[in-house]
Amino acid sequence: MPLYAAVLDATAVGPGSSVLDLGCGTGLFARAAADRGASVTGIDTDPVAVALAAAEVPEGTFAVRNAQDPPLGPFDVVAAVQVLMHVADPGAVLAAATRSGAAVAVTVWGRERECDVRAFGEALAPWLGPRRPPSEPPQVTEPDRLRTLAERAGLVVERLDEVLCPFDYADEDEVLGSLFESALGRAVGRRAGPAAVRSAVLQRLAPYRTPTGGYRLQNLFRVLVARPEEPG
Ligand SMILES: C[S@@+](CC[C@H](N)C(=O)[O-])C[C@H]1O[C@@H](n2cnc3c(N)ncnc32)[C@H](O)[C@@H]1O
Repeated sequence: MPLYAAVLDATAVGPGSSVLDLGCGTGLFARAAADRGASVTGIDTDPVAVALAAAEVPEGTFAVRNAQDPPLGPFDVVAAVQVLMHVADPGAVLAAATRSGAAVAVTVWGRERECDVRAFGEALAPWLGPRRPPSEPPQVTEPDRLRTLAERAGLVVERLDEVLCPFDYADEDEVLGSLFESALGRAVGRRAGPAAVRSAVLQRLAPYRTPTGGYRLQNLFRVLVARPEEPG
């Protein structure tokens, strides 16, 4: 996954590095860090994900724990990979990361218009509720918002990179399978029926079809790397 490599490269993770993975999910980023020789600790609020991560990275240490209350470490790198969009208080997670890490790395999706996966949402729109009102505060996918949150958490931003990650699907079954694996896809499938969903999604994804019958969706992610402010 190019996103994981970008985080590990930008934070110079290598043999002997200690990495705390906030919201580790099933441990795929932790696996990539351990493969570079890092010692990895992962936490997540989902016990099923934590069990899967522990199986994925047997040499790591994993616990069910809130990212707002991480182990103090200190760790060379605290990473929050694709997590800030899912927490109630991203600022609190960043503040906690600031207390635990010599370096903090955060990744977020790009803006909606920068990610081809929006096509799934557009295809399902007829069965979804009304969209978020424009008056809500900007999301962490806005780079200025992300930078401001990090600075308010006591971090000095060193870099805010853009990483393009293609999502490749071999054929129609693979692209639809990935949709029906998601909670959203299953919910809409129950409401609208799988045939209607299938037809709407394949029609909307037609521009992303490859000559070999697969699909390629290009998505932008942002990687922020920062260090805690020097005291005083
Ligand atoms: C999109 S997944 C990302 C998983 C992993 N970092 C990856 O890149 O594959 C978001 C994860 O954040 C976890 N999560 C959500 N809120 C959390 C919180 N407050 N503390 C810790 N983990 C949390 C979820 O359980 C989920 O595993």
